[in-house]
Amino acid sequence: MAGKRIGFVPTMGNLHQGHISLIDRARETNDIVVCSIFVNGLQFGLNEDWDKYPRTFENDCQKLRDANCDFLFHPDDVEMYPNGMDTQTRVICPTMTDVLCGASRPGHFEGVTTVVSKLFNIVQPDEAVFGIKDYQQLAVIRRMAEDLCMPVQITAGDIAREADGLAMSSRNGYLTEEERPKVICLNQALNWAKEQIEQGRKDFDAVREEAIKQIEDTGFRIDYFSICDSKTLEMAAVDDKQITILGAMYTGGARLIDNISLSLD
Ligand code: PAJ
Repeated sequence: MAGKRIGFVPTMGNLHQGHISLIDRARETNDIVVCSIFVNGLQFGLNEDWDKYPRTFENDCQKLRDANCDFLFHPDDVEMYPNGMDTQTRVICPTMTDVLCGASRPGHFEGVTTVVSKLFNIVQPDEAVFGIKDYQQLAVIRRMAEDLCMPVQITAGDIAREADGLAMSSRNGYLTEEERPKVICLNQALNWAKEQIEQGRKDFDAVREEAIKQIEDTGFRIDYFSICDSKTLEMAAVDDKQITILGAMYTGGARLIDNISLSLD
């Protein structure tokens, strides 16, 4: 592999077109593409879905072969956590992970940054591609790589969506037939809020409240809906130019997230 540029796409498996689009993205700028599949227990809360998270290894392998992925790294818990899950050494990025998804999933991002650091150490990629779908995760990993001077370029991959606009996710499999056509309300509310801000509204709190009402009127419970500075993830100020709107809501058996960015330049 000497002299070859390595692109890396970490995943938890149950691969869909969103993951494959990241493999394709990694292929564009690298000689070798490595994917990992590891359902990382450290990033799941005690009452979350680690045990029922969909594991579809044979299907995933076929999809990776079809996508011409060169290597798959599929470690077990002992390989990733040789001293047990109560690992002493962890990577934390506190301020950016106390908000949004981090507020309702304590410890989640600590699990993500810790496992991604370990994966980077093992795979030693030149470039790693993460989906914009998990916007906060991408922002935190970028910050971690900068703060710790990691010799890896972090690249963002676009959000792959279903025909109606729903962001693809392994957790969409938890939706009931009745819920499925309705959950698009999250994406619709994000688009609506983006249009309002693009048209010049600066009363972000009121935009946010109206968007939340649209989602709740469809029958779902909101986790958060926030209008943020794209880089820091702090609440957007009226003169911010790069804005990302992020939302999360609960269905009967899942928690769905989505986001949309806008530039006021
Ligand atoms: P997982 O949820 O499997 O996602 C793996 C990668 O695919 C992430 O970078 C995620 O943002 C991206 N992805 C998911 N849905 C997408 C979509 N619809 N369009 C584009 N990209 C999408 O995220 C994780 O795993 C884990 O936290 C991980 C980073 C592997 C650490 O355990």
